[in-house]
Parts: sequence; C-alpha cells; structure tokens
Amino acid sequence: MLAIIGGTGLASLDILGSARREIIATPYSDDAVELERFRHHELDVIFLPRHGKDHEVPPHQINYRANIWALQELGVSKIIAANAVGGINAELEPGALSVPDQIIDYTWSRDHTFFEGDLEEVKHIDFTHPYDPTLRATILRSVNSVNASQASAKIILDGGVYGCMQGPRLETAAEVSRLMRDGCDMVGMTGMPEAALARELGIAYASIALSVNWAAGLSAQPITLADIHQVLSSGMSFINSLLDQIIRDLSQTA
Ligand code: HPA
Repeated sequence: MLAIIGGTGLASLDILGSARREIIATPYSDDAVELERFRHHELDVIFLPRHGKDHEVPPHQINYRANIWALQELGVSKIIAANAVGGINAELEPGALSVPDQIIDYTWSRDHTFFEGDLEEVKHIDFTHPYDPTLRATILRSVNSVNASQASAKIILDGGVYGCMQGPRLETAAEVSRLMRDGCDMVGMTGMPEAALARELGIAYASIALSVNWAAGLSAQPITLADIHQVLSSGMSFINSLLDQIIRDLSQTA
C-alpha cells in the first residue's frame, strides 16, 4: 500500500475524496497517530500530514518514529513524501521541483532509530542510496506526463542532495555557504530521520521537494512567510495533479 506524507502546504489533498480516519496506537507516543485512508484509481492510499492537520507540530518535534511505525502497522510498503525546501542549486528557483537522490543529515537530538533499547543484536541499515530508485523513477515519469498535459511545464531537477537542518529557524548565510560547499542542492527540515526510519522498516521511500524560497543569503530579498505561502499555494496544485498521476501509474503496475 502507498502512503503520502504531506509537508508544509500539503495538510490536505484535493484527491482525498471520502477518506476514512484511521487511528493507530504506537509504542512511541502516548497519542495515537491519526491518518486518512482513501481509495483512488482503485488503489488504497494512506495520507499523513506530518505537521498535524492544523500545521501545529514544528519539524524538530514531529514524532517521526510514531508516524513511520503507524504506516507500517497499516501495511504501507511505499512512501512518497512532500517536502518544502529552500533552493541552493541555481535550478531550484522558488516554484521548481526536485526528486532528490541523496541526503546529508545535520539534525541533532531527534529520535532517529528503531534499533535501540532492548536489542538482540546491533543493526546497521545500508543507507548508501537513501531514496528508493524505483519510486523515484515513478515520480519522474509522472512529472513528465503531468508536464506534457499542462501549458507551462514545471522545472524539475532529477536528483540532488537534500541537506536536513534542525530548524525551526531558517539558516544563516554562512550555514548556507557551508551547505553549498558540502554539495547540498536544497535545504529543508523534515527529510530526516523520516527517510532512515522508513529504510529501517524496509519501506520504500522517495521525496518530491518543492523549492519555496532561495536559501538564506542567495537572494537580495529577505525570506518572508508571505512569499513562501504564495509559492506553496501555486506549487501545490501541481503536486496534487502529480500525486493523482503517480497513483494512476502505480495502480497500473500494482
Ligand atoms: N531552509 C530550511 N527549510 C526550509 C526552507 C529553508 O530555506 N524553506 C522551506 N523549508
């Protein structure tokens, strides 16, 4: 089963239709995880807004373990995550999309593994390629189909390094220069530990990253939430069409 994890600007989906609420208890939280289950193009899909329905949970306080555990409990085998990012690569102007293929994790003190506590043996997952190549290919194919059916094509970067910062504040200009030297193409706050936790549970994971601003120091303009929200609201209609196309594609190969 497919799950979509919605990020900033994607707390709900146009394609949700008549979704049914699922409430899943996990060992990682007192509060159960609330998700939506819906059927689209003959496929069962789970939707989880990672910041909560009202966008009230900041990136460093999201209970990533509870979320990924709940998805596994429901039988999810593939996750497509939406992430808002600041663009560092010159191609990632606000409004452009990327399907990243690498991650550098700069976060700290987040609960980032299932493999701790009372273990029978120490486990190390292979995380050389953090995003699932088959799911990435599905997303890229679907972007091309949606682009072909629209008057103005969306700029899309195939690949890129996602630098995950702790947040919730945005970066300093020096931090962004460092990310650039490290080879990051984009900066966000929610890609980790989500991707690693999915890998620990053997769930295929890929991301659609929407650039909503130039990363700090790369534009003469200050970064404002008003500008970010404007890019988000126009970008999300494309992401809704894209998710519709991805589900159609997956239902044909299921
Ligand atoms: N930095 C970190 N996270 C982000 C940004 C940014 O500039 N824009 C959207 N999410």
